[in-house]
Amino acid sequence: MNPFKYGQVVNGNDFCPRPALTKSIKDFIKSGQNIYVQGERRIGKTSLIIETIHHCRSKRACYVDLLEIKTTAGLCQRLAKALISFEQQSGFFEKILKSLSQLKPSIGFDTLTGSPTISIDPAIKFTPDSLNGLLDMLLSIHKKKPIVVVFDEFQDILNLREFKEVLAILRGKIQFHNSLPYIFSGSIRNKMYDIFNNPESSFFKSAIPIYVSELDTQCFVNFLKNKFALGKRTITDTAIDKIFSIADNIPGDVQQLCAAMWDTTSYKERFSEKNIPAALKLIFARESKGYEHILVQITELQLKCLVGLAKKGGKSPQSEEFLIASGISLPASVKKALNRLEQLKIVYRYEKEYKFINPFFKSWLIFKNL
Ligand SMILES: Nc1ncnc2c1ncn2[C@@H]1O[C@H](COP(=O)(O)OP(=O)(O)O)[C@@H](O)[C@H]1O
Ligand SMILES: [Mg+2]
Repeated sequence: MNPFKYGQVVNGNDFCPRPALTKSIKDFIKSGQNIYVQGERRIGKTSLIIETIHHCRSKRACYVDLLEIKTTAGLCQRLAKALISFEQQSGFFEKILKSLSQLKPSIGFDTLTGSPTISIDPAIKFTPDSLNGLLDMLLSIHKKKPIVVVFDEFQDILNLREFKEVLAILRGKIQFHNSLPYIFSGSIRNKMYDIFNNPESSFFKSAIPIYVSELDTQCFVNFLKNKFALGKRTITDTAIDKIFSIADNIPGDVQQLCAAMWDTTSYKERFSEKNIPAALKLIFARESKGYEHILVQITELQLKCLVGLAKKGGKSPQSEEFLIASGISLPASVKKALNRLEQLKIVYRYEKEYKFINPFFKSWLIFKNL
């Protein structure tokens, strides 16, 4: 079985330890301090949070994923779902329904687990009472048996039309939940920054920031080598370096490439950089539909800009050298294209550098010689 895990939260033996961060998050949880966890996508935020809570004796995680949330009714539904997964006694279920009554919830049953589910028509108008009721329930559960509430991809709350009102309600309740620790996690830097650092935001200075960066390289390399050793495979240091560089040092992408290396090599094989192209081709074969879909969405000029980024890197996309490599005549056109590509979530800015959200898409553009 392939020992490399990606595209999912990792824990236990699949979690390469992050002792310093784990300790500080644990300490904050113990003292009931709210924190916000920031870091790039697939860097390991969710895994770190869930693994840490798992190691806090007697605490349970109440996990609410706000990814791509669009309406406040949807937020209530996700919160209700997280609450249900906790306690399923009928009395409790009725309380949730009562809180949500203005949102006209409908009840169903999960065909796999048989547990009750709640769904809400997102078109129904949101009322603050529903959210207040659900937040009160968090505290009553916590009083019975301690929990840690995790709002993941919290920046997506800004998608809601009435986000200011929702943030004010959340803040209004949370500030009185002294003993209940909240963790807000997010990957879009500027949005998370705004929520917690803009004096006009109700969340201004309401939580302590924690930054999640790459895993310690030596520790992660040993972790990966041990996984390869499970299939009596060995890997050269140069190959490992190349994998990290192709995957932009992002743990999720490093693991994806290692998984593809595993799938394209055999038991007891010692492999080197020479094996990397075959692994990349396997990834391309699995993901090319998505890449082609991106190409349909963008203009000729945006594609030129992407190819320039793939070939020249994104540190100075308005330089003469970049313009020549991408075949674009005006720096202003590059700027406009980059803004659009950022909006489409194809590239992102990291410390003044433009990077591909998916580094394998970058490799594919080069491979295809577009
Ligand atoms: N501590 C870790 N040890 C090993 N792999 C990790 C670790 N953290 C993250 N990863 C890799 O990254 C992927 C994404 O992790 P995740 O926690 O979902 O990141 P994020 O929440 O930042 O997007 C995982 O599936 C795994 O491949
Ligand atoms: Mg996550």
